[in-house]
Amino acid sequence: PTPVVLDCDPGHDDAIAILLAAGSPEIDLRAITTVAANQTLGKVTLNAQRICSAAGISVPIAKGCAKPLVRPLHVAEDIHGESGMDGPAFGALSVGVVEHHAIDVMHANMPATLVATGALTNVAMYLQRYGTSAVREIVLMGGSTERGNTTPYAEFNIHVDPEAAAIVFGSGVPVTMVGLNVTHQALVTPEVVARLNALGSLGRICGELMTFFAATYREVFGFEAPPLHDPVAVARVIDPSLVTCVDAFVGIETIGTFTRGATVVDLHGRTREPPNARVAVGLDVERFFEVVIEAVKALS
Ligand code: BDR
Ligand code: CA
Repeated sequence: PTPVVLDCDPGHDDAIAILLAAGSPEIDLRAITTVAANQTLGKVTLNAQRICSAAGISVPIAKGCAKPLVRPLHVAEDIHGESGMDGPAFGALSVGVVEHHAIDVMHANMPATLVATGALTNVAMYLQRYGTSAVREIVLMGGSTERGNTTPYAEFNIHVDPEAAAIVFGSGVPVTMVGLNVTHQALVTPEVVARLNALGSLGRICGELMTFFAATYREVFGFEAPPLHDPVAVARVIDPSLVTCVDAFVGIETIGTFTRGATVVDLHGRTREPPNARVAVGLDVERFFEVVIEAVKALS
């Protein structure tokens, strides 16, 4: 199995990403690290503990950065609610948080693949503190080859900390970008919710998470069903054939008047900049939901 450290900000879809990583035999989940983005650091860390407790996952959980490298934090309460993971009622916690900082826990678990499903603050801090040599690969959910979801051109995770994203894409580590152009195909239809609900108590927690997420996505974006963004990045590590990629140069807009946080993806080589990322362009939706369901089943 591929050793993975999952850096996240749970987050409804991050919670499913944790389950997918922990419940898939292709991944050896070494640690979960948290970063402020969907909600404040304390809330997203508590949410990581909640979902791990509900699923009996006992990997180390470590807190990282409480705010972006240079900007104030803007959370996504409109999408994820006041707790950052509104919907289900969670039981007592059975897992704690380790004392060490996220970037030290990342380092202790290298060599590994870093899967990042929140703002890239911790990952950028890690690269600046420890360098690039021990990281096998960074697979991140963020950006888009098309348009954004936080501003017309910026996706949330990149928009929260564009300076961190610029460090990650400029680092020379193999980076795979799984953006909205593919995650918007991973729609959690009522049929998917029914399949989750049929899996027992953990499945019903997933169903409740997705029902809340569906309601905010309907209200904010008018979507018929919510996109399961973050697990698509995990799926790419489980089986690369689930998520098709092309090599491309990706520039991170850190200054633009209207476009700060945009990922400028040069799909046709017009800038003549050498590719610095593998960019996801296709998703096998049916097999993706198969691996998600199988992982939740394995943890149930
Ligand atoms: C990303 O933003 C967050 O709200 C989700 O958890 C996901 O990581 C989608 O733009
Ligand atoms: Ca996330």
